[in-house]
Amino acid sequence: MVENKNTQRVAVVGGGVMGNGIAQLSAMNGHDVWLVDLEEERLGTALGSIGSSLDRFVKSGKIDDEERAAVLGRIRTTTRIPEAVIDVDIAIEAVLERLDVKHEVIYEIAQHAPKAAVLGSNTSQISITAIGSVLGEDAHRFVGMHFFNPAVLMRLVELIQGLETSPETLERAQNFAKSLGKETVVCRKDSPGFLTSRFSAILRMEALHMLEEGLATAEDIDKAVKLAFNHPMGPLELGDFNGLDTYLDALQGLYAAHGERFRPPVELKNMVAAGRLGRKSGRGFYEYGAD
Ligand code: NAI
Repeated sequence: MVENKNTQRVAVVGGGVMGNGIAQLSAMNGHDVWLVDLEEERLGTALGSIGSSLDRFVKSGKIDDEERAAVLGRIRTTTRIPEAVIDVDIAIEAVLERLDVKHEVIYEIAQHAPKAAVLGSNTSQISITAIGSVLGEDAHRFVGMHFFNPAVLMRLVELIQGLETSPETLERAQNFAKSLGKETVVCRKDSPGFLTSRFSAILRMEALHMLEEGLATAEDIDKAVKLAFNHPMGPLELGDFNGLDTYLDALQGLYAAHGERFRPPVELKNMVAAGRLGRKSGRGFYEYGAD
């Protein structure tokens, strides 16, 4: 954990997998955080996940009990966006991957946040220009800030410059990512899937085609990618980890934007239709036990 001399006031809207990770990461790096979700119950779940993650940091000796308590003390929760963003320096939305929901949320954030605040989106592939189109003249302060799961551990934040994103906004987002100990890359031309989501979609699709063609088992396809290219997880097990329904949605968006090379394979559609969604349903490319 880093003592941060440049503490910023941060709001994270959406307390799911990514939102609670970004909130935890920000608090671990000395920022003051508001975490927003629709219901108290979801916020309770998010705080529970953050607590468990911090327990693992304590267990591995990376932080002590006092630091754990200090991190939790820097995170406040609310179901009301205005309360969270009223005096923020930076607000990041991490709600579900739907343009209409992101429009609604980012518009409300912009209505209540100070005019100087940076507004970020953790979308993994929707056009930043399209999300920012509801912001009118505030679009210059809106930028893509794509974290990876788990946000506390993954080293990269992919920054996306929308058509209207100002250089100053991009620089402030980059500085904020650095304050979290992250490396950054900049996708300078806003295009659905940016850099990283296009890579991961293609790799996973190729793995799925190999499986369909009977070239190798799922285990060996994953093992080939892990050991030959030093990936921590293979594309199929990662698909199961993130959810095959989420993966299919992502491919459909990329197919609409970039055409044939992202056409979702029939086998994937069938798996989703049959409810084989990966870990969360107990079965995907692999079988999982009840836990
Ligand atoms: P999630 O489904 O775990 O969490 C979304 C949260 O947003 C839920 O807790 C939901 O209650 C909340 N929410 C929905 N509408 C809201 C509203 N109007 N106001 C406040 N909260 C609201 O989703 P996840 O996985 O955290 O994804 C969030 C975003 O991050 C998506 O845009 C996704 O594409 C992106 N992303 C996801 C990654 C992953 O591996 N799961 C990796 C990188 C980006």
